[in-house]
Amino acid sequence: MSRAPRKRLEELRKLIRRADHDYYILDRPTLSDAEYDLLFDELRRIEGDHTDWITLDSPSQRVGYPIAATFQPVRHAVPLLSLAKCTTREEFDGFEARSRRYLKDFEDQFEYSCEPKFDGLAVELTYEDRVLTVASTRGDGTTGENITANMRTIRSVPLTLADGAPGIMDVRGEVVLGKRAFEDLNRAREEEGAELFANPRNAAAGAVRQLDPKMTAARPLQFFAYGTGRREGVDAVDQAAILAHLRAWGFLIHPAVTSCLGADEVEAFYRHILSEREASDWEMDGVVLKINDIALQQRLGALSRTPRWAIAWKFPPQEAHTQIEDIQVQVGRTGVLTPVAHLRPVRVGGVEVRRATLHNALELQRKDLRIGDTVVIRRAGDVIPEVVRVLPDQRTGGERTFSMPDRCPVCDTPVVRGDDAVAIRCPNLTCPAQVRERLFHFAGRGAMDIEGLGNQLIDQLVTRGLVHDPADLFSLKQDDLLPLDLMAQKRADNLLAALAEAKRRPLARVIAALGIPSVGEHTASVLARQFRTIDALMDADLEQLASAPDVGPIIARSIRTFFDAAATQDMIRRMKSAGVAFPPESGRSGEQPLAGTTFVLTGTLQGVTRQEAKQRIEALGGRVAGSVSLKTNYVVAGDDSGSKVDRARELDITILTQREWEELLDDSL
Ligand code: IVH
Repeated sequence: MSRAPRKRLEELRKLIRRADHDYYILDRPTLSDAEYDLLFDELRRIEGDHTDWITLDSPSQRVGYPIAATFQPVRHAVPLLSLAKCTTREEFDGFEARSRRYLKDFEDQFEYSCEPKFDGLAVELTYEDRVLTVASTRGDGTTGENITANMRTIRSVPLTLADGAPGIMDVRGEVVLGKRAFEDLNRAREEEGAELFANPRNAAAGAVRQLDPKMTAARPLQFFAYGTGRREGVDAVDQAAILAHLRAWGFLIHPAVTSCLGADEVEAFYRHILSEREASDWEMDGVVLKINDIALQQRLGALSRTPRWAIAWKFPPQEAHTQIEDIQVQVGRTGVLTPVAHLRPVRVGGVEVRRATLHNALELQRKDLRIGDTVVIRRAGDVIPEVVRVLPDQRTGGERTFSMPDRCPVCDTPVVRGDDAVAIRCPNLTCPAQVRERLFHFAGRGAMDIEGLGNQLIDQLVTRGLVHDPADLFSLKQDDLLPLDLMAQKRADNLLAALAEAKRRPLARVIAALGIPSVGEHTASVLARQFRTIDALMDADLEQLASAPDVGPIIARSIRTFFDAAATQDMIRRMKSAGVAFPPESGRSGEQPLAGTTFVLTGTLQGVTRQEAKQRIEALGGRVAGSVSLKTNYVVAGDDSGSKVDRARELDITILTQREWEELLDDSL
């Protein structure tokens, strides 16, 4: 075999990597698109002729990594912590005072690494021998999901690191989607009738959690690095040095990142980033201030979930003025009528908003809102904002009051008022708006997550009488789908595959998807854990229901009423016969969420013997060790604990109180 193409191949990879770095990291393109494409085509050609020369770190292999059917769990070698928060200068001063007290003898000004707080998805990238081997979501901080194939498609994620990077390293950062890309994406989804993303963070998270990496690749995601997990052999005295290393090894560090001395400089940084927030394409919800010196960080250590050496100073919610052009009434999945303000489109925090919920008639009255009013609206991260107040001196006299209708605007059934006279409901369970909303909720994220079953498709299925309730979805056939608008063979196949997959969703998700009034995701998972099967849940009496954690008599009644309805029972029966499996929760059915986690117990635990504590950990796959070492993940400190806790502090190991430990076990169930 001639050596020339081999050599050229290496050269091309190098040129393309450099061009990617110039473009995506330095934001300074050095090749024209045409030049870049030529190089890329040549690389593809050589690799096409010599498929055995293709390596995973080739720029051609960003898409094309082996895909897994589901996201496998990944344990983080070092847990990912979250951040304590403050919202005012006084609170920030409080943080400094606490740090100072904790360090006792420290009298200098603190130096901080000051960074924007990106509002995206936290991700960890693991490099072994300078090659990206695993990318994972934050998950619960201890275990995340394997999203390697998807992260590889992001151009600001280096597949290999520049010279000088250590053998084993975990890089942490945030995956974000720009506001403009987010708006384009939502516009396209609106046209397709797909569910809209509430904010760029959700859109980024959705993109990263696609099973098909091509879908991730299609969204212009960016990865900003902000820290490390393991970084063996990296010599760095402070956070600023770590970020400088990361930049040199090929990562994107936000250009605003800087170091500041003392609280006044920190406040100036906060104000500066706040002033840039609106114009920035990246959604930022505050700044993160990290005590720079790593020796000080180690002395300060961490509480169970947050380090003592860092804090997030959050921005206030974003407000704007606009006019209410109209007020319309929406019928929700439980029949509740909600007034919605249609606004003159306005940009808030760089994202366009057009609607705001007005909650209910009482709220409308309390705020004295009229059609034509100029109002203050507030966006707290999500695109659907709330109306804060009216600006009465802007009134011209032409404003119109609005009152809630006496009949359902969709099916014309007379409405009923709840006991509290606040909620107004359409009592017709077959009201097309309710049916549609129930299906929409059922198919959505956090529920059954049925890819490809969007708003418009549901509309068609309901209007044509093909689907009346969620159970009907599972008996749809090719022949039902093909005559629908915008439906091609491939789309029908995909939808049927997605429906087949959804039949195996865990019980908690199915319960959440049913849309029982007052039962959200949290209560659904509590119920799944408590009752284990759909039949046991359906059979539970009020007392049994109310004995589940966080379920009171009102929720218990709502669950009972839901399952007592003949229509519900019929629907569950049809779901079962269509093959919906309602599998119980993984925690107690043999899966081991704490596998690979080592605990050390010290001091006296209240109300539980050492032996019982050990059994509880082991039942979830964890291990209990006698002494603290680098392999320890958590030290559980009971009353009067001593040297083991000191040792844990020295080694920077997370220390849990009994309560935090119990929460961790509960979360793992
Ligand atoms: S550092 C030990 N730095 O904020 C400190 N986090 O509550 C742990 N975040 O979801 C995080 N920008 O992904 C750090 N510059 C930044 C950040 C940042 C955003 C996110 C992080 C996590 C949350 C922490």
